[in-house]
Amino acid sequence: MERHEISRIAHRDHPIAAPLSDESVKWLLARLLRGRADGRLLDLGCGEAAWPVRALAAHPGLRAVGVDTGAAGLEAGRRSAERAGVADRLGLRHADVREFTAAEPFDAVLSVGAAYAFGGLGPTLAAVRPLLAPGGAVLLGESYWEGEPSPLARELFGDELFDLSGTVDAVRAAGWEPVAGHTSTRAELDAYEWAWTGSLTDWALDRPAGPDREQALRTADAHRREWLTGYRSAFGFVTLVLRPGA
Ligand SMILES: C[S@@+](CC[C@H](N)C(=O)[O-])C[C@H]1O[C@@H](n2cnc3c(N)ncnc32)[C@H](O)[C@@H]1O
Repeated sequence: MERHEISRIAHRDHPIAAPLSDESVKWLLARLLRGRADGRLLDLGCGEAAWPVRALAAHPGLRAVGVDTGAAGLEAGRRSAERAGVADRLGLRHADVREFTAAEPFDAVLSVGAAYAFGGLGPTLAAVRPLLAPGGAVLLGESYWEGEPSPLARELFGDELFDLSGTVDAVRAAGWEPVAGHTSTRAELDAYEWAWTGSLTDWALDRPAGPDREQALRTADAHRREWLTGYRSAFGFVTLVLRPGA
């Protein structure tokens, strides 16, 4: 199985591919869209388009575009948009976010758990700026170190992450101001990891013995070990609503 297929199965019970509860997602979208009845939203690294589908369902005049390199995730996004009755207002692009351009800017741009696609927070915010319309806002979801990372955690995540105050400093140094924010709770962080590893295990146990079942069980076990022994104690996730500074 390819990585995207594994990821699709792992997110079966947690469609938002980030450690955020449904309630937090709803609150963040409300802060991002600020009561806007219409407008255009762009999700860079949209996965299964869970954010745009929810935004479109809550804002009947909104239109949205999602960009991702994962074809299976986009197909799942298309189906969930149809189920939610918003498919006619959602465009899904199978493309690399680094190559995405648009004729018209967007009122809201999202990058949640996908800043690595641009090589980190600074390059992501630089890429987003020309895509944002005047008065628009960005939703940026990014991991950070909550404590001293273990050598395994550093190996897994590289040297790209800051601590929380370093993350905010980097955002402000890039010329953006946080106007709302949410730091994921321990329950949200754990719920995401249990769902990821649990869904994959559950899927495998419903399959006959064979290479797919073995691969899924191995992947779930390796992921759970990395989480429990490598980064659980030193990992956080923050989601910020940002506006360009003066
Ligand atoms: C952790 S997932 C987050 C998905 C979604 N933002 C969410 O919160 O549900 C990161 C996504 O970024 C996508 N991605 C990574 N690199 C990319 C690139 N260069 N261009 C487009 N998408 C990319 C992956 O395929 C994946 O779907």
